[in-house]
Amino acid sequence: MLSGKTVVVGVTGGIAAYKTASLVSALKKQGAEVHVIMTQNAAEFIAPLTFETLSNNRCIVGRDGMFDRNFEYDVKHISLAKAADLIIVAPATANFIAKAAHGIADDMLITVVLAAKCPKLAAPAMNTAMYENPATQDNLAKIKDYGWKIIEPAEGMLACGDEGKGKMPEPSELLQHVLLEIAHEKDMQGLSVLVTAGPTQEPIDPVRYITNHSSGKMGYAIAHAAALRGAEVTLVSGQTALDTPEGVVRVDVKSAEDMYKAVAKYAKKADMVFKAAAVADFTPKTTADHKIKKDSKQKAGMSIELKPTKDILAEIGQNKKKGQIICGFAMETEDLLKNAKAKLEKKNLDMICANSLRTKGAGFAGDTNVVTIITKDETTELGCLSKLETAERILDAALKLK
Ligand code: CTP
Repeated sequence: MLSGKTVVVGVTGGIAAYKTASLVSALKKQGAEVHVIMTQNAAEFIAPLTFETLSNNRCIVGRDGMFDRNFEYDVKHISLAKAADLIIVAPATANFIAKAAHGIADDMLITVVLAAKCPKLAAPAMNTAMYENPATQDNLAKIKDYGWKIIEPAEGMLACGDEGKGKMPEPSELLQHVLLEIAHEKDMQGLSVLVTAGPTQEPIDPVRYITNHSSGKMGYAIAHAAALRGAEVTLVSGQTALDTPEGVVRVDVKSAEDMYKAVAKYAKKADMVFKAAAVADFTPKTTADHKIKKDSKQKAGMSIELKPTKDILAEIGQNKKKGQIICGFAMETEDLLKNAKAKLEKKNLDMICANSLRTKGAGFAGDTNVVTIITKDETTELGCLSKLETAERILDAALKLK
C-alpha cells in the first residue's frame, strides 16, 4: 500500500526506540522507501545498524552529515525533507517535542523536520509525569497547531515502573496511522460514510441469544478502505472479534432493534450507506427475565416463538436523502443474481453486492470474497479478491454513482 512513498522515521532517545525497528520493517513490507534518522541519545537504546539492515538505507545519527565536505551536491536535510511523503517520529521524547515546538534545529532529525512540508506524525512516549507536565502539554498543543498529528500514548506499566499514560502504541498501530495519512489518494474527502457490519444477537433470556456466522470482516474492510480514502466513517457493528480500523468511529450494537436505532440516527447525515451486517430477520417474541430452566414440562421439547424484525435497509431505502447512495448486500445460497436484483428493486437501493455461500473463496469467516456488484445499469463480477480489495472496488463503484 506504500509503494512509491518515502517515509522518514525519526527515532529519539526513549526505551520504546527498540519497538521502532518493527515499524521500519512493517513500512518496508508495505513497499515504502524508508530513511531512519536517530538522535544521538536514541543510539544509546538501539544500534543504527539495526535500522540500516531493516531499511536498506544509511541511518543518520545526531549531527551526522550536517556539515559534510564530500563535495556531493546534496544537502542532506533538504533532500530528505523534499523526498519525504511523511515523517513519523516514534518515540518522540519531551525534549524532541519541545524542540519541534520552538524550532530549535540542533541535529539532523529536527533540521529535516523543520525543512519538510509533508504530513508529520509524533508518537510521544515518556514517563507519565513528564507527559502530563504542563510544559510538555503546551508544546504538544503547539505542534498540533503547527499541523502535527499526535498519536496518543497508551496507558500501562511503564519501563520506569510507574503505571499510567506514556507508552508508545504498538508498531502495528503506528503503521495504521501512516497508512491513514498516505496510503491512498483522498478521493472520499468530505464524504460521510455509514457502514454496518457483523451479526446481530437476539436475546432469548439473560444467557442465550440467536445469532449467525457473520465475522464482520467485509464491513470492517469497507470502513477501513473508506477511512484510507479520507471519508468520515461511522461503523455500526454487531459483536465481532475485530479491531476498529484507525480513523473509524465505531458504534457497538447487539440486537437488530439496536442496529435499527443506530442506523436511523447516523443515516441522516450519511452520503453513502453500506449495509454489510447480517441482520436477524426474526427475534424472540419475548425475552425471559430469568434463565429458562429445563423443567419437566419441557423435557418433551420446547419452541421459541419469533416475530419479524424491521428491515433496516428497506426503511432507509424508502427514506433515501437526495444524492445519497445506498448499498445493500445479498448473501444467497441459490439464484444469486435473481435474488440480489430483486432486493435491489424492492429495497430501493443504488447498488447491491451479491455473494454466494456456495462459492469457494466467498463467505463469512475467510479473508477473501467473491462479489458481484449490481447497479441499475451494470453487473460486475469481481472474482476472488481479498476483502480489502473487494472493499476498494465496491467504493469505486459507489463513487461512480455520485
Ligand atoms: N437487512 C436489514 N435488515 C434486516 C434484514 C436484512 O437491513 N432485518 C439488510 C442486510 O444488511 C443486507 C440486505 O438487507 O444488506 C440483505 O440481507 P439478506 O439477509 O441477504 O436478505 P433479506 O432481505 O433478509 O432476505 P432473505 O433473508 O429472504 O434472503
